[in-house]
Amino acid sequence: MIPVKDLINKIKFDTREKAEDYVLFYLDRVENKLKPIKFREIKRTEGNFLVLERDSEEVEIPMHRIKGTDPLRDTQEKITAIKPVVGMVLDTATGLGYTAIRAAETAEHVVTIELDPVALEVAQHNPWSQGLFDNPKITQIIDDSFDRVAEMKSERFDRIIHDPPAFSLAGDLYSGAFYLQLYRVLRPGGRLFHYIGDPKSKSGRNITAGVVARLQAAGFKTVKRVPRAFGVVGYK
Ligand SMILES: C[S@@+](CC[C@H](N)C(=O)[O-])C[C@H]1O[C@@H](n2cnc3c(N)ncnc32)[C@H](O)[C@@H]1O
Repeated sequence: MIPVKDLINKIKFDTREKAEDYVLFYLDRVENKLKPIKFREIKRTEGNFLVLERDSEEVEIPMHRIKGTDPLRDTQEKITAIKPVVGMVLDTATGLGYTAIRAAETAEHVVTIELDPVALEVAQHNPWSQGLFDNPKITQIIDDSFDRVAEMKSERFDRIIHDPPAFSLAGDLYSGAFYLQLYRVLRPGGRLFHYIGDPKSKSGRNITAGVVARLQAAGFKTVKRVPRAFGVVGYK
């Protein structure tokens, strides 16, 4: 497999390649969101960083491992937090599908919801997301989880994976009203994993405290912090 750095250099500088034939995205780990990169913004690659020029300033994007983790390990931590992942699973934010694909390895069935069709378009181009499209144990829904979960039958799921964008971008997915719906669709004995972000950061600490209080108010009898997975687990 060609390293991402070489691939980017090839697309940018090889005159036989047409940059408009490619789409490049990166995962912004602060906002927990996929963001597009335009090839004309790329100035150069430097070590493991991609250097972009945006508004006359240089921006560095790391091309792998951030703060000692990678998507595979990150996904594994989220899954391990609610193991065993069995029965019916609800994945409230598909993204690249890593959590849905991993959960489908042991679950009976996974229902995954994505608001943004562009995220699924990106997943279609990503070789590590193919399970989303060819695993019959995964059902994909394009909708707003906030509305869709409210329409689902009560006590339908054994596990819920809730991996939303940052609080500042998707406040409703961190609201007491949404947590009430998550609690309702979970079976007694079921578990919810809720990704929040780095618990050591000031905002991560504050947001975690609020999330724990609202999950408890929604009915989760125990809510445990899982710092390794940057989130919490709620038990029904
Ligand atoms: C961090 S990503 C999820 C990553 C995913 N768990 C994975 O393993 O690839 C968050 C996703 O939630 C989606 N999203 C944002 N708001 C949403 C909503 N209201 N309902 C469903 N999906 C939403 C975003 O478009 C983004 O793709």
